[in-house]
Amino acid sequence: MSDSVLNRLTDVFSQAFADAGFPAELGAVRESDRPDLAPFQCNGAMAAAGVLKKQGEKANPRDIASKIVEAVSGHSAIAGLEIAGPGFININPNEELVAARANDLIADPRTGATLVKPLKVVMDYGGANVAKPMHVGHLRSAVIGEALKRLFRFRGHEVIGDVHLGDWGLQMGHLISELEDEQPGLVYFDSDVTDGYPSESPVTMEDMARMYPAASSKAKEDETRMKRSQAATAELQAGRPGYRALLDHFISVSIEYLKQGYGDLGVTFDLWKGEASVDPLIPDMIEEMEAKGITEDSDGALIIRVDEGYDSEKRKGLPPVMLKSSAGAVLYHTTDLATLVDRKKEIDPDLILYIVDQRQATHFKQVFKAAEMAGWYNLEQMEHLGFGTVNGQDGKPFKTRDGDALRLSDLTQMMRDAAAKRLDESGIGLDYDESERRDIANKVGMAALKFADLQNQRLTNYIFDIERFTAFEGKTGPYMLYAAARMKSLQRNAAEKHVAAGDIQISHQSELQLVLALDAFDKAVQKTEVSRAPHILCEHLFRVAQAYSRFWSDCPVLKDEVPIDVKSSRLALSNLTLKQLELGLDIIGLEVPERM
Ligand code: ARG
Repeated sequence: MSDSVLNRLTDVFSQAFADAGFPAELGAVRESDRPDLAPFQCNGAMAAAGVLKKQGEKANPRDIASKIVEAVSGHSAIAGLEIAGPGFININPNEELVAARANDLIADPRTGATLVKPLKVVMDYGGANVAKPMHVGHLRSAVIGEALKRLFRFRGHEVIGDVHLGDWGLQMGHLISELEDEQPGLVYFDSDVTDGYPSESPVTMEDMARMYPAASSKAKEDETRMKRSQAATAELQAGRPGYRALLDHFISVSIEYLKQGYGDLGVTFDLWKGEASVDPLIPDMIEEMEAKGITEDSDGALIIRVDEGYDSEKRKGLPPVMLKSSAGAVLYHTTDLATLVDRKKEIDPDLILYIVDQRQATHFKQVFKAAEMAGWYNLEQMEHLGFGTVNGQDGKPFKTRDGDALRLSDLTQMMRDAAAKRLDESGIGLDYDESERRDIANKVGMAALKFADLQNQRLTNYIFDIERFTAFEGKTGPYMLYAAARMKSLQRNAAEKHVAAGDIQISHQSELQLVLALDAFDKAVQKTEVSRAPHILCEHLFRVAQAYSRFWSDCPVLKDEVPIDVKSSRLALSNLTLKQLELGLDIIGLEVPERM
C-alpha cells in the first residue's frame, strides 16, 4: 500500500531540512490553514530559524524557506510551491501522485486506514440501572461508548463491551420493601422458604418504574421507611435467598427491557454483567487488601487512603476509598474494585476504558488508585473517559415539561417523528411505500441524534435542539446520510446506463480536493483512537461529505457530453467516497438508507 500524499510530502521536506543541517522533524507537512491557496503547508522554516538563533547565529526564516523550496522544487511529488508571510511554504501536490494514491485507495477495502498492534480492551459503557427506565442521561455513554468500541475494533483491537449494570445498591432494598408492602403474601418474603421460587417474575418493568420512585420518595420523608429499605438491602447483600431470587427477576426483566432500548440506538454489549455479579468476589478481595496492609479502620468503616495529601478541611486532594460502611454495607467503590478483580481474572485486559459521566471523575480516580495500590493494574491501564451533559434550551440538564428526566424511548420517538416530518417537508420519499418511509425516518432520526452528540468534544455540554439536529443542511446526521444516499443513487444510475467505474484521473480541482479529503482518513482514525475522541472522525467525515458536495456540483458524471473515461473516473471516485463514508459512518453508528 502506498503512503498518503501528506506523508509523501513530509518525507520530501524532512529530507530537505535534514540536508540543510536541521532536525528532519521540521519538515512535517500539514493540511493548510488556507486551503484556497494550497492544500498543504510546511512551517518548519520558522522553527529552523529558532534553532539557529539559539546557536547565536543570524537567521531569517524566509531565507531558510527559499533554500528549502530550492532543494525540493522539481521533485516529482510536487506541482507548485510558494512562500508566504514570514516563511510558510504552501505546497501543491502533483496531480498524478494524487491520482495514483486515489487508485490505491480504491484497491484497499479499508480505503487507506491502517491497522495497529492489537490490545485487549474492555469498554465499560451504558451503565444503566436495573429497575429504572432509561432516560436522556443514559444516551451519551451508550452512543460514545459504542462508537469507541467500533473504532477500536476497526483499528484492530480486541474489544469486550460490558454494560456494567447498576444493580446492587439501596434501590434494590427500596424495591424489595415496596413489593413486600404491595404483595406481602409472596413466597419470597417467607423466611422459611429457601428455594424453589417461581420462574415467572412478580413484577414487570413498568411495575418497577412505578415502585422505585414511590419507595424512594417515601423513604426521604419517613425514617422508618428508609430503615426498612436499608435493612432489605443489607439482607440481600448478606445473601437472603428470597431476596436474591427477587433480584434475579429484577435483573432479567430489566435486561430484556434494556436490550430493546439500547437496540433502538444500535448499541450492543458482549457482557451484561453488573455490580451484583461481582459481589461473591468481595470477601476475598477485601481480605487480600487487608493482607497487603492498604486498608484502614475509620470509625468502624473500612477505607483505603489513596492520597497522602488529602485534607478534608481544606477540601484538598482525593478522599479515601470506602470499602465498607460502618453498617457493613459495600459501596460503589467496592463493586467497581471487585469488577476490576473479575476482569483481571476472566479477561486480563491491557486496557480498560470507562465511558461514564464526567461528574464521576473523582470516583474513578479513587478506584484506579486503589487498584494500583493493590498491585492489580498500572494506572495507565485504566482510563475514565468522561462526557458532559445534554442540556435543555435553559442550559440545565434536559428535562420534560413536568421536570422529569426524559425517557430514552420518548426521546428516540421524538427524533423519528421529527425526521419523518423533515423528510415530508423536503419531499423525500413521498412515492415510497410506508414501510420504507418509516425505515428511512428511523435511520435519519437516529443519525441526527448520534451525530449531534458525537460531533461535540466529549467533555462539552450541549443543548438538545431537535430542529438543528434534524436539518439537512449543516453538520448534521441527516446531511451525512443524504450525501451517502446520493452516491448510492449515482451508482444505480450508472449501472442502468452501463457506465462502469475505471481508473481515477484528476481533471478538476474539486476532484483533487475530494481525493485529498479521503486521503486524510487514516490520520483521522488514528487521532480519534489516541484522543478517544469521536468528534475527530465526525469532522473528517463531514469534510469528505462537503468535498463531495463540491465535486457533485462541479463535476458532472453521467451527462451525455462527458467523455466516457471521465465518466468512469468520476464514478470510481464517487464509489470510493461511498465506501469510505460507509466505513466511517458505521463506526459512529449511522446506517445509510438505500435511497432518500
Ligand atoms: N450505574 C452507574 C450510574 O448510573 C454507572 C456505571 C458506570 N460504570 C462503572 N463501572 N462504574 O451512575
